[in-house]
Parts: sequence; structure tokens; C-alpha cells
Amino acid sequence: MQPGMESLGITGSGEQGSAPTRRRKGFPEEFLWGVSTAAHQVEGGNEKNQWADWEAAGKTKSREVSGRACDWWNNAECDFDLARDLGLNALRLSLEWSRIEPAPGQWNREALGRYRQMLEALNRRRLQPIVSLHHFTHPRWFEEEGGFLSNRAAQRFERFAYRVVDEFGDLCRFWVTFNEPNVFAALGYVLGEFPPGRLGDVSTALRVVDAMAASHACAYRAIHRVQPQAQVGWAHHYVVFKPRRRSFLLDRWSAALLNRLFNESFLIAVERGQSANPINLDGKFLRPVQGTCDFVGVNIYSRFHVAFSLGHASELFTKVYVPGHVPQGDAGVERPYGEAYPGAVAAAVERCARLGKPLYILENGVPDAQDRIRPWLIRNVIRELERLIREGKDIRGYFHWTLTDNFEWSEGWGLRFGLFELDQTTQQRRMRPSARLYGAIAQANGITSEVNRLFPEIL
Ligand code: BGC
Repeated sequence: MQPGMESLGITGSGEQGSAPTRRRKGFPEEFLWGVSTAAHQVEGGNEKNQWADWEAAGKTKSREVSGRACDWWNNAECDFDLARDLGLNALRLSLEWSRIEPAPGQWNREALGRYRQMLEALNRRRLQPIVSLHHFTHPRWFEEEGGFLSNRAAQRFERFAYRVVDEFGDLCRFWVTFNEPNVFAALGYVLGEFPPGRLGDVSTALRVVDAMAASHACAYRAIHRVQPQAQVGWAHHYVVFKPRRRSFLLDRWSAALLNRLFNESFLIAVERGQSANPINLDGKFLRPVQGTCDFVGVNIYSRFHVAFSLGHASELFTKVYVPGHVPQGDAGVERPYGEAYPGAVAAAVERCARLGKPLYILENGVPDAQDRIRPWLIRNVIRELERLIREGKDIRGYFHWTLTDNFEWSEGWGLRFGLFELDQTTQQRRMRPSARLYGAIAQANGITSEVNRLFPEIL
């Protein structure tokens, strides 16, 4: 046990654990304090999805592979213990479609059995599961059919969603259909960092987002058919784009363009049943998407600075950059990760609240192996949330990305987002100071004076 934890009532024993006593401070009594994860990044041994092929072909920027990852397929429970011992009450994970349905219409009992064990283990620890059905990976066969651009995509995804919720509806009622369709499409079709590795294909990226919105709507309805009381949403990645010079029209135009294409796509589909794509001529096909969410999951990481640039024709004349002087975590293989900007949460919440649904912050974090700025980020984001809730925003949970360092997609093992440090070879975990801080905040249900006394602000 870490210093300071005892007095906050954090205990580290027995699987059942006891529900922490919560003091009221700004956050609703039932507020969810969690961590987020994704199957491919933590499970290890995923070999049947499109990311396994991408890694095997040496296409990650770091040339690394996910390999054993955090070994969750064998022992997720050790991380569930860590989350419970911190005093959290929720955990978001994703189910790997390629394990559950390795060939179209063929269901793998063993994989379903293992996921049942994991969800039961979470419930026993009083960690509310939030389950994502698609977090960037899908079966190889689905990719070969054309991914989300195939005519069969929506029906395929709907069938998977129905099957999973039918199977696990007794253990979970929060479902995230898609994690970040906008990131999936931007990195796969514009920046070439995710499979299928296309560069500069903005119009296909927008078609992919729209197609995912159509699949989401089918899954939304299917889930409610099998579990009427289900809470279904998606996780929306929101980035703040700041024009370099406010006074310069073209910088403002560049930032507004990126905002429209990146932040507004998917959101507009659910909000209005329309496409954010200016050249989408088929107005009707997104109509059934309107209103298909019971909550909005909001993922927030960064602010980017944007300037109009004639030299960036292939990037719609927008230059996106991170000035050296702003707070930021560790840099990726080729470029900075982004500005760590607690104010992003307010911008994202203001926008997403317009849908009139409860909001859950489903991801927020920073790559920071030395824990230089993570405590500062956590504290300031949570302060922002407290302020927004005071102002009347219906925010019901905060999930930090992530519990344990894991496989960061194309960046491989270089970017470390964990509250716990991981040595992938030995699978040893070591607590970072920010884990202690976050655990204390969760236990106290906010940043109380006691939290401030035990964890004085140093940044
Ligand atoms: C993704 C995660 C990723 C995290 C950190 C999010 O956009 O959902 O899978 O690890 O960002 O980059």
C-alpha cells in the first residue's frame, strides 16, 4: 500500500473488495471513476485481425509488434485487482471481434467463455464494465470483404453486436459500438498510420465515417432489441484546433475546416442524421442514424495548432503543429503527440452536450514515461469537470487512459500512457505517482482538501 492511501480508505485485499466510502465534493454520488483499455492493446496473442497483419508486415512506425501485450488473455485479473485496489469503480475494455467470430457466422465458444470470466471478474470487484464492440480492430475476413465500405458491413457488425449482447447482457449494460470512428478513418485513410495505410484520401475517410455511423445505428437498434435497458453510445475523439493567428482569416478557415471534418463527422450523423461530408450527395442514407445514442463517450487528449500553408496542398493547405513551449508528454517516432491541454475537456463537453445525452469522459491521458506532467493533467482535467458539472453539464464518469502501459498502435511500446509502468518482458507492473493521486481522487469522489494535503501540487 502506498503512503496516503490508508487514510483515504484504499485497501488492497480480497477479490470482493468493499465499496469505498465516498465523500461528496462536486461529483454525483454515482459518478464512475475508471480506466479505459482496448483488446488488441492489452490482450496479447491476437492473430486474426487486420492489425496482426499490419504488424507482421513491419508497418508500425516503431517496427514493434503487440506480441504478448499486457497478457490479459491469460491474466487480465491482475490488472483488475490493481484498478480495484486504487479505489476505482469502473473499467472500460473491448471485445476482440476476431476472437469471437473468427470466420463469418462461426462463434468461438472458448473466446466467449474467457470474456465471460473477465466480465464476471469485473463485477465481483465492483468495477462497472463498459464494453466496446470495436476498438480499431476487426477480423481479417471483414477487412478482406472491404471493411466498413463493403455493402455487407452493417449487417455483419449488427449480427456481432446482437450475439455479444445476447451472450453478456446479464453482466453489462453499457455498450460502446465504436471507438473513435474519426481517428480510425483519419489514421487509416489520410495519415497512413493504421491499416489499410492510405495517404491523403480525405473523401474515402469521410465515407468510412459515414459507413460506420450506419453500422452503429443498426447495432444500436439490435442491442436494444436484445437488452431494452441497455445504454448504448460511441466514443468520440475530440481535438481542439487552434488557429495560429486569430486575426488571420485563412488560419481561422484552416482550423474550422479540420474541426468540421474531424470533430463534426459522426457527431452530425447522430445529431441530425446527416453527413459532415460536403460532397456527400446521398442525403438519405444517414437519416436512421439520428438519435441513436443513450450517452456520448468523449475521448480527449490534445490541442493542435493550425496554420494555412500553401506548402501543404495534400493536407488541404493546413499545417498542423505543436509549438515547442506548450505542455506536452513524450514525443512519438516521427512527431510530437500533441499539446496536453486540460481546457480541451470544456470544448469537447460543450459541443457534445448539445446532443442532450449524458456524457462520459471515456478517455483522457498523456504519454509520459517519467510521470512529469500526468499528475498535473489529471488534477486540472478533473477540476474542469467539476466546474462543468457545477454549471449543469450531465457528466457521469471519467476514465483515464490507461491503467497499465500498453501497445500504442503504430507507436508501438515507445509511448507510455499507464498509471502503472509495465515491463513487457517480465510483465512486472510498477505504480507511477499519478496512480496514487488518481486513486485518492476516486476514493474521495473529487479533489478534496485532504487530497490536496496528501498530494501537494508541484507543477
Ligand atoms: C485510442 C487509444 C490510444 C490512445 C492514446 C485513443 O485515441 O482510443 O487506443 O491508445 O488514444 O493514443
